[in-house]
Amino acid sequence: MFDPNDIRHDFPILNVKVNGKPLIYFDNAATSQKPKQVIEAIENFYFLKNANVGRSIHTLAEEATELYFQSRKKVADFINATPEEVVFSSGTTESLNAIANVVAEKFLNPKDIVVTSILEHHSNLLPWVKVCKEKSCALKVVNANKNWTINIEKLEALLKEGAKVVSLTHVSNVLGTINPIKEVSKLVHSYDAILVVDAAQSVPHMPVDVKDLDCDFMAFGAHKMLGPMGTGVLYLKKRYADLIEPWNLGGGMIKSVKLLNEVPELSCCKVTYEDTPIRFEAGTPNVEGAVGLSAAIDYLSKLGMNSVLFHERQLVKYLLENLKGNSFEVYGPKDENSITGIVSFNLKGIHAHDVAYLLDKLAGIAVRSGHHCAQPLVNILGTVATVRASFYIYNTIEEINAFIEALKEVEKMLK
Ligand code: ALA
Repeated sequence: MFDPNDIRHDFPILNVKVNGKPLIYFDNAATSQKPKQVIEAIENFYFLKNANVGRSIHTLAEEATELYFQSRKKVADFINATPEEVVFSSGTTESLNAIANVVAEKFLNPKDIVVTSILEHHSNLLPWVKVCKEKSCALKVVNANKNWTINIEKLEALLKEGAKVVSLTHVSNVLGTINPIKEVSKLVHSYDAILVVDAAQSVPHMPVDVKDLDCDFMAFGAHKMLGPMGTGVLYLKKRYADLIEPWNLGGGMIKSVKLLNEVPELSCCKVTYEDTPIRFEAGTPNVEGAVGLSAAIDYLSKLGMNSVLFHERQLVKYLLENLKGNSFEVYGPKDENSITGIVSFNLKGIHAHDVAYLLDKLAGIAVRSGHHCAQPLVNILGTVATVRASFYIYNTIEEINAFIEALKEVEKMLK
């Protein structure tokens, strides 16, 4: 196990004061802070290696290309994929939009059923709403069971009806509950359907092995796992990578573009795409982002993802014990072993935004409040907004003590 107090030295931002108080950062599900190792890796790229990748043959370009490829390999190893199955994107949202569009184009026909769940972030709901409308497919939203994970019986009923695609979050960004993706993938594949997994809130917090989970597509971003913003990953199983067409077209992703006729205006062109994953990365990629993500993975790997999850659960356990009074409504399971480092709650009778505002102003504590871009789920919880505390490797029990004290003060002021 690691000591979060050692880790804190690597995070310059944890020394800043917010509203005169040392920052207590509990908004890690929105984005994590970055260690100096990641910041320096990005800085070094620009100081020493900056060039476009996969194009020019000069030394600097070859070194930058090598760095970019090493970063892809690092990501692949981290999730137990092969580099061919790892496509860099701008983030989870772009990955999920691309997946919905290509899966719809290639595999969906009118009247087909797509299944998602009530636990989804809007990023894994809205793209499916759009493509199902365009393709005249039915989008079914499966409810959760009492543990706030997907209701497997309802899912199976839809698979029996012939559902073609299931797109599901691994971990709820509101409740931290963990869907049993391995069980779901066995079920989905036994009906020859496709499984897409939104792993934005799982890859940063727990070990994730795509071979073991056996998902067909998966999406996650760098910025929630110590890496930079604007970088994400789209994992696609090799079998699918070979079947689908590139969704972005442009430089750097072709083997050849040939005129079909010597007179250009008569007909153009015969295009042969590069192999996967290059064929899916048109244009100049976000090399600094890939390099930063690679450094972030080095950092997390040193700690060990089991230890990361264990640490977060210790913090969740401690917070849940302290939120037991009558003042609080805590949403989702109260057992830290079934969730990651996320706790959603309300101070009864007080709007979540008021709580978050005062936590920040009085105590320099950053939490997220609102619907967390998962409005259907928050509504089903019986509210319009929650306060969400989300933890990461550098958070401590002392910070939670300060949080509890600040909540008491907020309650006194507003009740
Ligand atoms: N998806 C991020 C969150 O849950 C932004 O806050």
